Amino acid sequence: MKMKSNGKPASRIAGMGWFAPDKILTNTDLERMVDTSDEWITTRTGIKRRHIVEPGTRASELATPAARSAMDEAGVNPEDIDMILVATVTGDYKFPSTAIFLQANLGAKNAVAMDISAACAGYLYTLHFADMMIRSGQAKTVLVVGVEVLTSMINWKDRSTCVLFGDAAGAAVVVPSADNRGILASYLGTDGSLADLLNCPGGGSAYPAMNREIPMEDFTIHMKGNEVFKHAVKKMGDAAVIALDLAGIEKNDIDLLFAHQANMRIIDATAKRLKVPQKKVFKNIQEYGNTSTASIPLAMGEARQKGLITDDSVVVCVAFGGGFTWASSVIRF
Ligand SMILES: CC(C)(COP(=O)(O)OP(=O)(O)OC[C@H]1O[C@@H](n2cnc3c(N)ncnc32)[C@H](O)[C@@H]1OP(=O)(O)O)[C@@H](O)C(=O)NCCC(=O)NCCS
Repeated sequence: MKMKSNGKPASRIAGMGWFAPDKILTNTDLERMVDTSDEWITTRTGIKRRHIVEPGTRASELATPAARSAMDEAGVNPEDIDMILVATVTGDYKFPSTAIFLQANLGAKNAVAMDISAACAGYLYTLHFADMMIRSGQAKTVLVVGVEVLTSMINWKDRSTCVLFGDAAGAAVVVPSADNRGILASYLGTDGSLADLLNCPGGGSAYPAMNREIPMEDFTIHMKGNEVFKHAVKKMGDAAVIALDLAGIEKNDIDLLFAHQANMRIIDATAKRLKVPQKKVFKNIQEYGNTSTASIPLAMGEARQKGLITDDSVVVCVAFGGGFTWASSVIRF
């Protein structure tokens, strides 16, 4: 699925926000839990710490402050919001959606609310659909959120996955664009034939939670890391190139690259493919680990707060996740 604005963006990001819990789990903490080392985690992933919730914390509790910050920056009131799209694979309940809890928390009584499940690419999917809703005239103010409580589905005995993930939320308010600033192009892709490489099977209709014979491990993340790695490197590079092409933006004109913070080596490979120098590659994986759908909006929110995204900045966002799913966007601020 592709969107090309031909220099006339339909929508722009008017505000961004993020939230990460205070509690920190370091590589040294993990050394005491599983057979791993700070050295292995740092060199193979780039991760040093991750922020994690207290058990029982709901995804909507992280999404709400992130959304409020985005709304503050955008200067919108809860009643102004027409639509709330939440990307998550670790929502509060199986149903209703996490978006409806967020709607209630914010008092966004005029908003239609729903979740999108597209794993780590989910946030860029919501951004695309927000743009489409505004483009079609169905909505004027869309709140998009990526939020994960990944610690709720981690197997703390599996060293190949438990060292990778953290909890966080990121949000943006998307409104109509009046000039050449906004979402210039986006691209979404899916390949459902590779679902076995990364998933959490338990709790759905295939392996219902009430079936006591299903092992607890089936309610946690399963990943064939090295195979996912190869696909992620290829697809993220390809997706970024496609979105740039659609936007008519040259690689040299990229001001900042936001690649899904899953592994430092994947981020670096994507930057190399795009010939983007390190100083233009935003990284916060060392602090938060892989926060799945929250990864891109968390990175963008932090970069904005640090003054790295300014008026006229051209940013490229690219993500890849279970499914497989992948997505990219080119945005002029
Ligand atoms: C998970 C990941 C960090 C593993 O790194 P890797 O270099 O591929 O490592 P491998 O899985 O090949 O494992 C190499 C060795 O390290 C070991 N290992 C795995 N996790 C370890 C850990 N936490 N500590 C120490 N050793 C570990 C393995 O057991 C294996 O040992 P062996 O060679 O004796 O069998 C990496 O594959 C990755 O980032 N994958 C992609 C994740 C991703 O992109 N996700 C996107 C969507 S969320």
